[in-house]
Amino acid sequence: MTKPIKCLISAGPTREWIDSVRFVSNPSSGKMGFELAIAARKMGFEVTLVSGPVALPRPEGIIYRPVETAIQMREVLVDLFPESDLTIMSAAVSDHRPEYLGDKKIKKNKFPENLNLIPNPDILHELGNMKSPNQKLIGFAAESTDHLANGQKKLEAKNLDWIVVNDISKPEIGFESEMNQVTLLSRNNENFSFPLSSKKEIASAILNQVWK
Ligand code: PMT
Repeated sequence: MTKPIKCLISAGPTREWIDSVRFVSNPSSGKMGFELAIAARKMGFEVTLVSGPVALPRPEGIIYRPVETAIQMREVLVDLFPESDLTIMSAAVSDHRPEYLGDKKIKKNKFPENLNLIPNPDILHELGNMKSPNQKLIGFAAESTDHLANGQKKLEAKNLDWIVVNDISKPEIGFESEMNQVTLLSRNNENFSFPLSSKKEIASAILNQVWK
């Protein structure tokens, strides 16, 4: 029997805790990543979905690894990546985390006026450095200006095979929406634009292009 293609997908936001009840995050719903996981499963892949906190039902037939913080997401992805044939990083990882103020709710009058922010690890960059020639690594770029130029920079800086450039400047696409509109760039200078479509359709179109 041939070995199944192993596909690793990240989705959703990360939560960066300030104290036991407050956190910094972003509005990622996880929809884009979950649709990628469902489409990859339909293609017969063995799929592991690593997701930050979302309110979506767990897709059937998929290994699900819930995480909260960027540090936790990094730990799981770095551990699973060496076994993965195709990795797609659609999670909206917080670039920074606040300095943790402790596991009790800080009283209102003790709460600092300014939060000290610490950089989070760039998980995709680390995976790009770990990548071997038989692995495919796909990133996303959430951009509100100079989409293609910024996407191209991320593709090169993170040693990716493909990058999905996601325009997040319009409310009907990108974060939280049902629909999306993306451009796929490859390290071999290929460029495919997918028109406004459901995230389900976009997920299939991405997978059909990156895994031929
Ligand atoms: O979840 P939805 O509501 O469906 O929304 C989908 C989406 C808009 C979140 C998704 O399509 C998307 O664009 N995801 C990428 C969001 C993002 O963090 O983009 P970025 O340009 O900041 O990061 C570039 C790449 O590096 C991404 O693949 C990201 O996962 C990765 N990254 C970023 C920061 C970090 N510390 N570590 C990372 O690995």
